[in-house]
Amino acid sequence: MINIAVLCSGNGSNFQALAESINKGYIKNAKIAVMVTDIPGCFARERAKKLGIDTLIAERKNFKTKKDFEKYIIDELKKKDIGLVVLAGYMRMLGQEFVKEYRNKILNIHPALLPSFKGTQGIKDALDYAVKVTGPTVHFVNAEMDQGPIIIQEAIEIEDTDTEGTLAPRIHEIEHRIYPKAVKLFVDGKLKISGRKVIVKDE
Ligand code: GRF
Repeated sequence: MINIAVLCSGNGSNFQALAESINKGYIKNAKIAVMVTDIPGCFARERAKKLGIDTLIAERKNFKTKKDFEKYIIDELKKKDIGLVVLAGYMRMLGQEFVKEYRNKILNIHPALLPSFKGTQGIKDALDYAVKVTGPTVHFVNAEMDQGPIIIQEAIEIEDTDTEGTLAPRIHEIEHRIYPKAVKLFVDGKLKISGRKVIVKDE
């Protein structure tokens, strides 16, 4: 059984998709032990309440340094014997220590085809650049932003008439399918990292 911590700063739709995948038995041998948020008023917290999942609130402003802030979170995760950290719309860069503590055990989802359009505006940036295809990327997290080894990507076409309002829901729909899939592969021990490459063992 792997205990998962999901870190959210906002809406939390990926968190919910993951929780439902576990509840439905699509992901076995895993449990979301805690949802951690740096934003007490975020919608992910409402979702956690409804899902019956514990929330840990860690506000950056209550700590002197980023290191103290992250140490608090790490200590709490250790108490819960967390074996996988899932970033789901968590809007802070993880520090070196965090990444070191959970080396190769942190996943993130980004709404663009990495390494294109890194950063916080992946959907808008792809539209502004007017690329013809885009789509989400699930990847391991290392100390560089949106840079760790890629697990799954899925491309969709951008139509001439697309706006953020029409494109974002199509991307999120894919996210809610491929993020649980990546977590399942991790939990089942099917992901092997070899340099930058993630090899998926006999799916
Ligand atoms: C997603 O689009 C994800 O790719 C990005 O942040 C968004 C989070 O959405 N990292 P939600 O909070 O899971 O609804």
